[in-house]
Amino acid sequence: MVKGLKIRFEIHNILFSVYKFNKTLNNSSIKKKINKQKTEDISFLYNVTLNSMRFHLHCIKIIKKYIKKKLRDQEKILLISAITQIVFLDFKEYAVINCSVEIAKKLRLYPGLINASLKKIAKNKNDLKEIKINFSDFQSWFQKKTYSLSYFEKKQFLNYFYKEPDIHIVFKNEDKLSKFEDNLIRTSKISGFLLNKKDIQNKKSFINGDWWVQDFSSFLPLHNFQEKNNKKFLDACAAPGGKSFQILSKKHDVVLNDINKTRIKTLKDNLKRLQLSARILNRDFTKFDDKEKYDIIIIDAPCSAVGTIRKNPEILFKKNGPNFNELISLQENMLGKASTLLNKNGYIIYMVCSFLKIETVDQVDKFLKTNSNFLKADFKLVENEDNYLKLIKNNCMITMPNMILNCNIDGYFASYLKKIK
Ligand SMILES: C[S@@+](CC[C@H](N)C(=O)[O-])C[C@H]1O[C@@H](n2cnc3c(N)ncnc32)[C@H](O)[C@@H]1O
Repeated sequence: MVKGLKIRFEIHNILFSVYKFNKTLNNSSIKKKINKQKTEDISFLYNVTLNSMRFHLHCIKIIKKYIKKKLRDQEKILLISAITQIVFLDFKEYAVINCSVEIAKKLRLYPGLINASLKKIAKNKNDLKEIKINFSDFQSWFQKKTYSLSYFEKKQFLNYFYKEPDIHIVFKNEDKLSKFEDNLIRTSKISGFLLNKKDIQNKKSFINGDWWVQDFSSFLPLHNFQEKNNKKFLDACAAPGGKSFQILSKKHDVVLNDINKTRIKTLKDNLKRLQLSARILNRDFTKFDDKEKYDIIIIDAPCSAVGTIRKNPEILFKKNGPNFNELISLQENMLGKASTLLNKNGYIIYMVCSFLKIETVDQVDKFLKTNSNFLKADFKLVENEDNYLKLIKNNCMITMPNMILNCNIDGYFASYLKKIK
């Protein structure tokens, strides 16, 4: 058998299921397949799969330059992964072309076409590396939903959407950070970007439960939220737990809830490692009983997740876009439910890992219009960091996949909604 064929065939099948059947790499059947591979093959598989999804639009532009015939989905996926390896990952073209031809034979595609086009592409790979993406290259759902972005914001997105994410970590307290064994680019008294991204789960301080991984933009809203003790929190969509760990580290009383059993299991495992504990519920938040009231309700709502495009490149790779009707109405219902469970002078912290107007500003505006007993409270920076001022607009935090301190952060939105009556 040609060397590297088996793992490349697995990669092809995974990419095809993500594209065609709306799967994600976290899907349990895909995870099972991945975990069956040898350790060295697993990192190869993630490298090729994630980068094929990140660079798929670049690859499609390259394919259109060299192939005029309409391609079948399987051919397109096979070429995307091969071009990513040759042009963007600089792998030896001989091995990539050989394996791609063998896969084409197995799948009864045109091995001749795959062979000839990849050879031409490999010859010009240095020029092709420079190929640029425009907004008009994105899927039409994404173009429509980003109509309100400014020219500058669109340009920013184009610069960053296909880059590898950086790793931002959050410590339980300042003391734990001061004892950290590695170098960090500090973002606050208790957080920073890791300089060495390798093998992080084997670091002693990780195993000891001193810190967790959480994007800077998803960390800032709760870090910034100043609340006295003796307040009762509910994290309505808690799993896998980033926001919950922040609240628990501040020693607040909190109930954690999530509808998804598998994600609750991950939440529990994470809490165990971090030596934190809380009351945990596994319910549909929109059907919560109205008897128990809270002072602060965190809604980190299900959303399109476009803000996490660098960590989840599947979002723009899948053939079909997110189901916006379902997401928007779920977000609305969650906000409505939270309003009924909140004590006077309490807050809803509404957050989504999205920068799309329809899931962020529009949701908050609609909510405030129908709930005149609420107002948008100030989003003030506690650490008074000038670097972060650009992330705050109209009293909300809204970030694009962007950079601070030369490191990548996700697109994210947060608003503090106060119940005044
Ligand atoms: C963006 S994630 C939450 C991330 C989490 N807050 C964190 O910081 O790690 C959204 C979560 O909402 C949960 N969810 C979706 N619909 C829900 C519902 N009706 N009730 C409760 N949780 C729900 C999902 O299972 C998912 O875990």
